[in-house]
Amino acid sequence: MNPFLTIAIRAAQKAGTIITRGFDADRGDLKIDEKTKGDFVTSIDKAAESAIIDTILSAYPEHQILSEERGLVNEDSSSDVQWIVDPLDGTRNFMNRLPHFAVSIAVREKGQTTCAVVFDPIKNELFSALKGQGAKLNDARIRVSNHYKNLENTVIATGFPFKTPHLLPEQFTIMRNLMEQGVSDFRRTGSAALDLSYVACGRVDGFFEIGLKPWDMAAGELIAREAGALVTDFTGFDNYLQKGNIICAQAKILKNIASNIHLNASHLA
Ligand code: IPD
Ligand code: CA
Ligand code: CA
Repeated sequence: MNPFLTIAIRAAQKAGTIITRGFDADRGDLKIDEKTKGDFVTSIDKAAESAIIDTILSAYPEHQILSEERGLVNEDSSSDVQWIVDPLDGTRNFMNRLPHFAVSIAVREKGQTTCAVVFDPIKNELFSALKGQGAKLNDARIRVSNHYKNLENTVIATGFPFKTPHLLPEQFTIMRNLMEQGVSDFRRTGSAALDLSYVACGRVDGFFEIGLKPWDMAAGELIAREAGALVTDFTGFDNYLQKGNIICAQAKILKNIASNIHLNASHLA
């Protein structure tokens, strides 16, 4: 197996064990901090993050890691390899005992994502991808849904920009327009990494979100692309990791989603 994938899976599984134990534990044992309004971090996010960072560094002490809670590890490293880690994507669900969250780990080499793992420890679902080699859910190859040629009857995942409430009107305008174009329903699952992975395996027909961070997207976007999805920012380019605005779907659906967002949220570009 690809050595980066081996380490990414090992790290995700170690974090997954910490997260499932934390999920079953007494709530009183959970330490919760509010980073900014409505944005929480728990002691389990941090414990899972430590396990992931230790696992990566014990195999690759010189690699740089960008991780949500810890920031940049090995900032001065001259290595071409950077790991991007979200130890617990879906913290709010985790805190509410809603069993939908994941560990997200991506490897970028010379600025290109080459290896990705998104692990849902509750369902024991491991999404993975290697650049140019397709995407998998556990051992099975996955493909994006190809049922629809336009938005009619599609189900689109999204997230609400609760950290930037001034963008909420844009969010709701986009959703209203998409429904007027035939989208039958939306899903707000609380984990962007799983939303992207669910596009990859056809559980939803597309995904868009405003204002994500690189660790929310880096692994899921490779998994989706390797499963046949297109991924763009709101202007049709591939700067989503920098801009934070992302659309992901098979080509025809993506074009339809993008045209609605472009019309109504051009200032988000
Ligand atoms: C959050 C989830 C959520 C998205 C938020 C993210 P976190 O990540 O991905 O779906 O809407 O913007 O911050 O904080 O649970 O790691
Ligand atoms: Ca996240
Ligand atoms: Ca997180």
